[in-house]
Amino acid sequence: MKNKIIYLSAALVFALFTSCKNEAKSELSADSGEAKEYKGKEIGSEFDAEIDKLVAQMTLEEKIGMLHGNSMFTSGGVKRLGIPELKMADGPLGVREEISRDNWAPAGLTNDFATYYPAGGGLAATWNAEMAYTFGNSLGQEMRARDKDMLLSPAINIVRTPLGGRTYEYMSEDPFLNKKIAVPLIVGLQDNDVMACVKHFAANNQETNRDFVDVQIDERTLREIYLPAFEASIKEAHAYSVMGAYNKFRGEYLCENDYMLNKILRDEWGFKGVVVSDWAAVHSTVKSLKSGLDIEMGTPKPFNEFFLADKLIAAAKSKEISEAELDIHVKRILRTLFQVKAMGGKERAKGSISTEAHYQDAYKIAAEAIVLLKNENNALPLKLDGVKSIAVIGNNATKKNALGGFGAGVKTKREVTPLEGLKNRLPSSIKINYAEGYLERYDEKNKGNLGNITSNGPVTIDQLDPAKLQEAIEAAKKSDVAIIFAGSNRDYETEASDRRNLKLPFGQEELIQKVLAVNPKTIVVFVAGAPFDIDAVSKKSSAVVWSWFNGSEGGNALADVILGKVNPSGKLPWTMPKTIMDSPAHATNSFPGGKTVNYAEGILVGYRWFDTKNIAPLFPFGFGLSYTTFAFDNAKTDKTSYAQNETITVSVDVKNTGKIDGKEVVQLYTSKSDSKITRAAQELKGFQKILVKSGSSNTVTIKVPVKELAYYDVATKKWTVEPGKYTLKLGNSSRDIKKEVVVTIK
Ligand code: BGC
Repeated sequence: MKNKIIYLSAALVFALFTSCKNEAKSELSADSGEAKEYKGKEIGSEFDAEIDKLVAQMTLEEKIGMLHGNSMFTSGGVKRLGIPELKMADGPLGVREEISRDNWAPAGLTNDFATYYPAGGGLAATWNAEMAYTFGNSLGQEMRARDKDMLLSPAINIVRTPLGGRTYEYMSEDPFLNKKIAVPLIVGLQDNDVMACVKHFAANNQETNRDFVDVQIDERTLREIYLPAFEASIKEAHAYSVMGAYNKFRGEYLCENDYMLNKILRDEWGFKGVVVSDWAAVHSTVKSLKSGLDIEMGTPKPFNEFFLADKLIAAAKSKEISEAELDIHVKRILRTLFQVKAMGGKERAKGSISTEAHYQDAYKIAAEAIVLLKNENNALPLKLDGVKSIAVIGNNATKKNALGGFGAGVKTKREVTPLEGLKNRLPSSIKINYAEGYLERYDEKNKGNLGNITSNGPVTIDQLDPAKLQEAIEAAKKSDVAIIFAGSNRDYETEASDRRNLKLPFGQEELIQKVLAVNPKTIVVFVAGAPFDIDAVSKKSSAVVWSWFNGSEGGNALADVILGKVNPSGKLPWTMPKTIMDSPAHATNSFPGGKTVNYAEGILVGYRWFDTKNIAPLFPFGFGLSYTTFAFDNAKTDKTSYAQNETITVSVDVKNTGKIDGKEVVQLYTSKSDSKITRAAQELKGFQKILVKSGSSNTVTIKVPVKELAYYDVATKKWTVEPGKYTLKLGNSSRDIKKEVVVTIK
């Protein structure tokens, strides 16, 4: 008995100790000084014997049934053997509504509502890996509540041009930020017995001609810019599936591209999961399969007419492809089904959907995503003393953005608009004078261009409606303060078409100028997912805020930033250029190409171009203000010289020199002078977000494995670290470097 008590109390002490330790650990990673490592679970081989047995019992038709869509969002199962259909769902902003089995019409259900999460650009703007984990984990739970196996997300193509229709859906122009957000998102998602389907593999950076454009990228650029996030998704997060893109790469469609799917993805990276085609992106039967595709998905036509359906049965019968080869693909699918416990009888995560907890996840991410671009004379946060009325102007104050935009639409019960957010947060004694200001209007003749993949971008009507303009001016005149909600929406920024230019659509520029003229106390808030030309309006207004298609709680998060309950900490995940011609793809006249597009700027994508060519951006990559100020001090490394297999530990003290608590993102860029190879002026190689209390100082530690400094040597086909001196630059944007440390690599 006594022994038992001793044992129990020892166990209690141990449990307490480990729980404290765990707490301390999670506290450390929660906006603390050091990044947490995210690693996914690999696909195991423990089910192989069972899988072999199943495959041995399958007919040719049953096997092939698993290799193509048997409805819009499922591929076939084999009922008699207990193999379920593989159930997929879009997409990057939350679980899409249920689509009919054989056409694109919504299924019309009442139980397919979901939480709308901030779009990719917003998530990346948090510069917070923990937010990415929360995002994936929350969304994974929703997937399970909807009984899905595979989420068609994350979408991680590099933002090559600001005009890309899917810029809002994608994350960044920078491969390092891209992978540091993608990996925790995938880990969080797959922790819930759901597969991530990382898309669109790869080199799919424009919508114009996406069905056939042949992308030409030199090998070094491919490896250093366009592939790292995919590579990390496979090697670190162990994503269980990948989506082949629509376009061609070096002459071959990406769903039948042996180099990309077999050589790189499987042979080099060791990918064990399944390759799913984008919808109707397949162009051949045996060639696709032999080049590495596993499942063909598509748009409505009889499912037996798919390339990997009847035609494949015929090819197998005529011995064009052996059954042993088919088995390889079938087994891959089965392995992923076992891995996420869709098979094998183990208890699977049940999930939950549209819960208050999930809305709060969306809120937390949204609040950290908002970027403060300008704040002269502390115009923000808005002080309410003496304020009796606020003019709220702009169609975007009430515009909802959850639905629409093809695969990235979410049917949600909650989307708090900016106007609703303000109403929720302002005291009722303050009068809100709302005026729509501008109308979202498209040229009827060119309306067909909305989502038309062969053109770039819808044509908008940019004349203001005189009555709407007058109403806005009156509202601004009679109010103590005005807030304009401008920007774009998810019809204007959309999959399947790129934008024509950076201009603010619908006459918003004129509206903003006129409102500013009658009420200088005007705050301009942009709700958009991609860069716009906001040069002139930013110069004239004292406060400019950037928000995103920012999820179910976007309006509340925005109101909290405007009113100071949240101190903004978002940083731009891409460069905001002054004019489109400053951007690399445009300066090199290599967008959108015709049948072929040649990425002429090479490795100089995004800020790499602006910094190397000394072009001043309007707002630089990594930029975002706070309501407090920070000072960096005591930057140092643990050693001065490193071997190739070592890790550089960089630390810096971040002091909050202002009056309120706030989060800062320490960004670490590296430069190599006297390099033997062409390089960008600097490259992001580390970052860490940290919460620092007013008046306090916290130490941030960033670990840079020396191998992160490598360039891809095309001649030897190896990642190579050039020995010599490297400058490590610590700053809070790519253009605000506060400390530098030089190290030597042996
Ligand atoms: C998009 C994918 C999406 C798929 C299914 C395609 O048009 O490119 O991102 O997952 O449709 O909706």
